[in-house]
Amino acid sequence: MTTHKNVSDLAVNVLQKIKSSKHISVLTGAGVSAESGVPTFRGEEGLWNNYRAEELATPQAFERDPNLVWRWYDWRRTLLAPLKPNAGHYALSQMENFYDNFTLITQNVDGLHRMAGSKNLVELHGNIWLMRCTAEGTVMENKNTPLVAMPPKCNECGGLLRPHIVWFGESLDEDILTRAFRSAEQCDLFFVIGTSGVVQPAASLASIAKQNGAMVIEINLEPTPISDVADATLLGPSAKVLPGLLNAMQKD
Ligand code: OAD
Repeated sequence: MTTHKNVSDLAVNVLQKIKSSKHISVLTGAGVSAESGVPTFRGEEGLWNNYRAEELATPQAFERDPNLVWRWYDWRRTLLAPLKPNAGHYALSQMENFYDNFTLITQNVDGLHRMAGSKNLVELHGNIWLMRCTAEGTVMENKNTPLVAMPPKCNECGGLLRPHIVWFGESLDEDILTRAFRSAEQCDLFFVIGTSGVVQPAASLASIAKQNGAMVIEINLEPTPISDVADATLLGPSAKVLPGLLNAMQKD
C-alpha cells in the first residue's frame, strides 16, 4: 500500500497511466457526496433515531413496519433535496469527456452524479428518487419532500410503493451487475473513491480490476480494506483530490 497526500506526490508511472489509459472504470461511495452535505453510512451522523442503515434497509424491516422504513427514507430525501453536486462530482463528469471509454459505478442513491452531468452511470444500489410498486413492479419518479401520504401508494393500482433501492439481503439487478463487472474486468485504470469497501459486491470490483491487469487508485480520507489492493491511495477529501487529478491529467 502506497499512500500520498497530494496528486503531485504520485509516482511518474502512475501519472503516466492516468493520462494514457483508454478504458476507465470508477467506483464511488458515500464519501464522494460527503462534501455536498450527505451523511455517510458508517459515520455517526449517518444514524437516524438510533437506527443503523442495516436495520432499516432490509425487506424484513419493510414487511414488519413499512411506515418506519418510509419515515427514514422521507428523512433522507428531505435532507438530500436541497443538496448540490460538489467539485468531486463535477470533476468526474468532466473526466468522462477525457477518456474513450468511461464508466462510473456508484453505490450512492442520491442522484448527485447524474445532476453533475455524468452519463455512462451505473447506479448499483438504485436511486432514492425512484419508487417501485410492490404489486406490479412499475418504477416511477417521485421527488416530493416530505412525502404527502405515508406510506406512499401506487396511483395506478393502489399497491404499496417501496423505494427503488437494493436492500441488504436482496440481489442486485442482473443487467446492472453485468455492466459493473464487465467494466471492472475490461478497464486499464480503476478508481475507487469514498467507499469503506465493506459492502459486496461493490467491494470486490477493485480486486477484479486488479486481477485483470488494471492499475487501481483509491481516494479516501483514510486507508480501507481496498488500500491493500490499490497501487496508490490518495488520502484526502474527494472534492479536493479529484479536481487536482483532473488538472494533472490535462497538463502535458
Ligand atoms: P460508508 O459510509 O461505509 O463509507 C464512506 C467512506 O467514505 C469511508 O471510507 C470514509 O472514510 C470515506 N469518506 C468520507 N468522507 C470523504 C471525503 N470527503 N472524501 C473521500 N472519502 C471520504 O459508505 P459506502 O462505502 O458508500 O448500501 O457504503 C456502501 C453501502 O453501504 C451503501 O451504498 C449503502 C450502505 O449500507 C445500501 O444502501 C444498499
